[in-house]
Amino acid sequence: MFARRCARLVNSRTSVPLTSFLARARPYSSGPSYEHILTSSPKPGVGLITLNRPKALNALCSPLFTELNDALSKYDADKDIGAIVITGSEKAFAAGADIKEMAPLTFASAYNSNFIAPWSHLTNIRTPVIAAVSGYALGGGCELALMCDIIYASTNATFGQPEIKLGVIPGAGGSQRLTNAVGKSKAMELILTGKNFSGKEAAEWGVAAEVVEGGHAELMDVAFKTAEKIAGYSRVATVAAKEVVNKSQELSLREGVEYERRLFHGLFGSQDQKIGMTAFAEKKKPEWSHE
Ligand code: CAA
Repeated sequence: MFARRCARLVNSRTSVPLTSFLARARPYSSGPSYEHILTSSPKPGVGLITLNRPKALNALCSPLFTELNDALSKYDADKDIGAIVITGSEKAFAAGADIKEMAPLTFASAYNSNFIAPWSHLTNIRTPVIAAVSGYALGGGCELALMCDIIYASTNATFGQPEIKLGVIPGAGGSQRLTNAVGKSKAMELILTGKNFSGKEAAEWGVAAEVVEGGHAELMDVAFKTAEKIAGYSRVATVAAKEVVNKSQELSLREGVEYERRLFHGLFGSQDQKIGMTAFAEKKKPEWSHE
């Protein structure tokens, strides 16, 4: 908050862009105080959310999701943040929805409260979101990763949809998103048997963009590098790129290509299209306006 106010003050008095310095210095973790997550901005333009409920292997209880959604909304509204990374610990990205919270639910209580519906908030976030997955990403944890735009997995990552073992089915989009990623036969096998799959398999099957050799630190390096790269581009272009790729999951090919073309046309109305193409012709580095 303090840093944001300072940014406005200083920016109004000088023409020197201070965004990158402030992005690094911004003390997000001293902003809203959360119980189950940590927030920080470790790299310029990058917002980091760390799931932090170690005693329950980051099981996704409702209060955790309320905090996660709040942090996502704040980063999404922040002009200085161009990419978000969600991670857990070396041992667990998230071991699923909180089974102890779910155990007493009835059909009526789940249906009337539209249980789990707030989880979809992540899919409304327009800023690109990267999941950096070490350890368990089971059930809702796997589904949370699948809702992100890019998944990086460490070699110790364990993905799976084990809900069948609890007498239920995936409830946060796993049956749809996992099937889109791996195809029907493999998704059926995974969901009907509840068997886990590794980070290496996740990368081979297209669930993860890459499996990163080494530990959690190496994984975070790769995630931050990509996040920083994305955050270094025009926000107008990165948001549009995310939007059109997501449309490919929902529209027919003809509709999707048309949607892409219209948005492509629209970008010729942005300042950053002029900035980017002029900089190319002048062999200069573009200074994006994000407008
Ligand atoms: N919900 C609530 N608590 C959980 C949890 C979960 N999903 N996963 C782990 N925990 C808790 C354990 O109960 C335990 O707490 P206590 O110390 O108080 O007993 C603590 O975390 C540590 O867990 P374990 O002792 O079990 O650790 P482990 O290393 O022996 O095993 C594990 C790790 C294999 C991940 C095991 O904890 C496990 O199987 N967890 C459940 C995984 C699962 O079934 N996830 C799917 C949930 S359903 C779902 O997500 C629905 C949906 O689609 C939205």
